[in-house]
Amino acid sequence: MSLDPSLLQSLADRVGTPFWVYDAGVLRSRIRQVKALTSPPKVQARYAMKACSAARVLREMLAEDIWIDSVSGNEVLRALRAGYPAGYDPAKICFTADVFRDEALKVVLQNNVLPNIGSPNMIQQLSEAGYRGPISVRLNPGFGHGHVNACDTGGPSSKHGVWFEEAKAIAEAAEAAGQEIVMIHAHIGSGPKFEELHDNLSRLASDFAKIVPVFPALRGVNLGGGIPHDYRDPNADFPLNLLRNLFAEAQEDLSRVAGREIQLEIEPGRFYVAPAGTLVSRVHDVKATQSNAKGEGATFAMIDAGFVDLLRPAMYGSWHRIEVVGKADRPTEPIVVAGPLCESGDVFTRDEAELLQPRELPRPVPGDLMTLHDGGAYGYAMASNYNSIGRAPQVWLEEDGSVSLMSRRETIEDVIDLETDEPLAL
Ligand SMILES: Cc1ncc(COP(=O)(O)O)c(C=O)c1O
Repeated sequence: MSLDPSLLQSLADRVGTPFWVYDAGVLRSRIRQVKALTSPPKVQARYAMKACSAARVLREMLAEDIWIDSVSGNEVLRALRAGYPAGYDPAKICFTADVFRDEALKVVLQNNVLPNIGSPNMIQQLSEAGYRGPISVRLNPGFGHGHVNACDTGGPSSKHGVWFEEAKAIAEAAEAAGQEIVMIHAHIGSGPKFEELHDNLSRLASDFAKIVPVFPALRGVNLGGGIPHDYRDPNADFPLNLLRNLFAEAQEDLSRVAGREIQLEIEPGRFYVAPAGTLVSRVHDVKATQSNAKGEGATFAMIDAGFVDLLRPAMYGSWHRIEVVGKADRPTEPIVVAGPLCESGDVFTRDEAELLQPRELPRPVPGDLMTLHDGGAYGYAMASNYNSIGRAPQVWLEEDGSVSLMSRRETIEDVIDLETDEPLAL
């Protein structure tokens, strides 16, 4: 998506740089695609809200009856505040937990939220907290593929879920604790190739079909998220109709084995929101280092967005499309794009081995706007106020061209608000 340069300039004048802008039309088009994928009977889409948990986005999902996968007590509370109903029947909010942290157990108990447990001892922890409701179990199927190795969500090196072969033991433990397992779940990650994701999902569905009889109260099977987004070519089309067929067939197979209707669920995150969010920054300087015995010199565009705004390149070496707004006609040259933080890793153009990877870009000049695209998923959601820099504002761009502020810029008061000198009586 390329946004209108004059609109970006007006927004920059109004809210300052850097800022995030979300294109409602792009988000809605992705929502429609997921709805089409999940159109067969008893196939339900959730949204893995950790990708972008803004209320504005949650309300769009709610309006289309896309349910929620949350991963913390506070995410559950955000979904409730956005208007999602609490309760188990149906469980429109599911809470996938690796560890019950903070007030998570209290939130589950007070709001009747379906916990999707990620480790065996959680049955005990729920029991001790007085929980007697239904549960879901996240299983580690032993295979899968993240978009990078660090995001591997299935296999011996993954911390997520209960090992698949322990399914029977976990069913017995849940029964002993008076907890009914109503859903089994796995997330096998967004593999780098669509075909691989398709094959993994179909293998997962058939592995799940084999263990369905272990869970007499089972009502749902969740195949996780992972529909990929092509960051290099946002217009790339994946054969999503193949997934639609896969989901329809899996739902029928699972129901046949169970002898009753089983709901099949998926819970993508990035696919909905990645292309909708753009980080807009301003170029403050263009400077160069010179080649010497240690290595080659480079030209650096110094922009005011950093990994406090978009962490993915620094964290995984992720690639995001970069544009010098409205300057596509200038000749290009290799440019390293770097941010304001006091960290040498605050560079957006790097590879997975964390080495500089200059990008062919029109040579920017100070004052130009520079956009980092496809950051709607795991962009603002991973933002921090490291270096005491406040989080950037988020702007919503409606399909009719109107704009509104989704969240304001974090101020120094916000940054220091949690500090106290309160004595602790022990
Ligand atoms: C349990 C679970 N569900 C869904 C997702 C969403 O994945 P994606 O954003 O790649 O679709 C994740 C991401 O890691 C996850 O851990």
